[in-house]
Amino acid sequence: MRQELTDKENAPLDNIEDWEADLKVRYPKPKSEEAKSKTDYRNYHDSERVATVKEFYRLNHQYQTVDFVSQKQDEFLKFDKKEMPFWDAIDYLNTLVDDSDPDTSLDQLQHLLQTSEAIRADGHPDWFVLTGFIHDLGKVLCLFDEPQWAVVGDTFPVGCKHSDKIVYPEYFDANPDSKDERYNTKYGIYEKNTGLDNVQMSWGHDEYLYQIVKDFLPEPALYMIRYHSFYSQHRENAYDHLMSDHDREMFKWVDKFNPYDLYSKVPVPPDAKALKPYYEDLVAKYLPATLKF
Ligand SMILES: [Fe+2]
Ligand SMILES: [Fe+2]
Repeated sequence: MRQELTDKENAPLDNIEDWEADLKVRYPKPKSEEAKSKTDYRNYHDSERVATVKEFYRLNHQYQTVDFVSQKQDEFLKFDKKEMPFWDAIDYLNTLVDDSDPDTSLDQLQHLLQTSEAIRADGHPDWFVLTGFIHDLGKVLCLFDEPQWAVVGDTFPVGCKHSDKIVYPEYFDANPDSKDERYNTKYGIYEKNTGLDNVQMSWGHDEYLYQIVKDFLPEPALYMIRYHSFYSQHRENAYDHLMSDHDREMFKWVDKFNPYDLYSKVPVPPDAKALKPYYEDLVAKYLPATLKF
């Protein structure tokens, strides 16, 4: 962690779920229905949350640089922090609960179960259900005292020009990469249509979990995990020039996943206890008993 950062800079949000709550304001409808109702996100100024979310994006856009991402990769992709049985990791994630805010009263496990149960109800394959169930497990980064803006938030490529389709693009003016001529052109350090596997994304829970589970799940599941916060592509198509044909094919799955992530809040919360045997079997089918973080 950078020493010069204050507590407020490490944790601008009262609750990390405020980022997701804000996404629902920005994207009130699934992509398939978007054309009919494009609400003006810029006119949304009415809550206390707006200010903290803006500050969160300001810090995210300022500090997520090529150097920062490679430093985080060095730090976290050795997986020498903690070894946990899968279910301990879920419990650990759930210590992020913040019940002080009635608007975001869902704990992490409830968000995961609501996502996965909605996927299951639609009759999708079991690995898709599992993807819904684990997709935010990378947020355990928060518990290693990482700044919120390096755990959640929209992700975007680093090493090339920041798209003005990313939320609050003006905040990239403070990002040193935007003044660095290696990184501030359309393609930056990449080739045209190089494929996203060659592209470094800003650091957060998506990439981290992808790296943890990449040997265990089918490719569409890995795309959904790795790019679920890449809104400037899956909702705005701002980085098509870096995508390969294969990425485009696989992003159909990312698109399919997004509504479950954003809109599957159900009135009656899933019964975590009753569902546990089903998820125990599902997890055991695909994942090793212990995960390395
Ligand atoms: Fe997420
Ligand atoms: Fe999520």
